[in-house]
Amino acid sequence: MPQKKPKNDPQQVYPPRQRSDERQRSRQAYARPEKQQKTSGLRRIWARLRGFQFSRNIGIDLGTATVLVYMQGKGIVLQEPSVVAIDTNTDRILKVGKEAQQMLGRTPGNISAVRPLRDGVISQYDVTLKMIQYFIRKACGNLFFPPRVMICIPSGITEVEERAVLDAAHAAGAQKTYLIEEPKAAAIGAGLNIYAPVGNMVVDIGGGTTDVAVLSLGGVVVSESIKIAGDKFDEAIMRYVRRKYNVLIGERTAEAIKKHIGAVYDHPKAQTVEVKGRCLNQGLPKLVSISSKEMIEALAEPITAILDAICSVIERTPPELLGDILKNGIVMTGGGSLLYGFDQLVTRVTGIPTRVAEDAVSCVAIGTGKSLDHLDMLQEGAINLSRERKVRL
Ligand SMILES: Nc1ncnc2c1ncn2[C@@H]1O[C@H](COP(=O)(O)OP(=O)(O)OP(=O)(O)O)[C@@H](O)[C@H]1O
Ligand SMILES: [Mg+2]
Repeated sequence: MPQKKPKNDPQQVYPPRQRSDERQRSRQAYARPEKQQKTSGLRRIWARLRGFQFSRNIGIDLGTATVLVYMQGKGIVLQEPSVVAIDTNTDRILKVGKEAQQMLGRTPGNISAVRPLRDGVISQYDVTLKMIQYFIRKACGNLFFPPRVMICIPSGITEVEERAVLDAAHAAGAQKTYLIEEPKAAAIGAGLNIYAPVGNMVVDIGGGTTDVAVLSLGGVVVSESIKIAGDKFDEAIMRYVRRKYNVLIGERTAEAIKKHIGAVYDHPKAQTVEVKGRCLNQGLPKLVSISSKEMIEALAEPITAILDAICSVIERTPPELLGDILKNGIVMTGGGSLLYGFDQLVTRVTGIPTRVAEDAVSCVAIGTGKSLDHLDMLQEGAINLSRERKVRL
């Protein structure tokens, strides 16, 4: 017969306490299943949202002649001339980019087609702001999640000019704006490893500015920025045609001549173009034929200024880095470097092997875009640049 437990058996009155993991298990068994599911689902969504970045990162090469927009993960998504057409009666923006460029020099009284950047810096703030706004919207679509923007600037611009770029980008809808120096972006875009302890030299010849810089360990060691570039080449061609043929040509015609037969070194096969202009004696249209040989003479003045800037940077470069540059050569970027024979001329003058980068016009935009990968390590505004410049002084 089984033994009956006494009534006041302590085991019955106080059943043995469960161990904590057993208690946990039984709690889980009694938990309401649907509530548990809901919590874990929300947690999962929250974890995903935290990992997801709504705003896009874009890099803008805000050039005097061309604006290029690079979108992280996509590459260059937009390339348009920096020209804006405005209705002068109402101050309304009519066209931006390619369509506005068609209007340059052909506008009636109430329309003005302008280039809001001159010599690499903002000369018309409100128009530049509208232009940046237009390009950001065109590249990103809606601005529900405003993008973080990296903009490149010439290495020699003042703090006031820097602030104008930052303010314009902010007013145009950028969530945060970061700045990068043009020669640094150009070097990255040209595929140079600027982060190694090795000297690299780049010459970026744009529309408004020429930036010459020696870079090492991710920073600019010596640099010079002059306001002589593509636009000054056009002016020099206009002056030459006027002086030699007594014919007046427009800026766009001069640019077309430069792109077609522009040369700074003897071309093995001399080329010729027919140019239409206005005869200054008779005031009537006149056709003249210009050869690539004449271009060397026409462009001599601005080209000499650029060569002087290159030599001045070389003179100030520490000897260790100069040894590296002699080995690695000079890399040229920007539209202005596409003049025939520019690399050969630099090689002859400096004695350093020089080459024009592949896709020279897009190098700065590509470099600006590539630096978007390190955006989280940077601080917005001009802080990074001023810190780098203080170290250089
Ligand atoms: N094939 C070519 N030969 C000569 N010049 C050219 C050629 N193609 C473009 N250019 C010139 O290059 C200049 C534009 O170059 P780029 O786009 O690098 O300048 P940008 O970045 O707009 O100007 P910046 O950097 O000075 O603000 C213009 O002056 C244009 O006429
Ligand atoms: Mg440029």
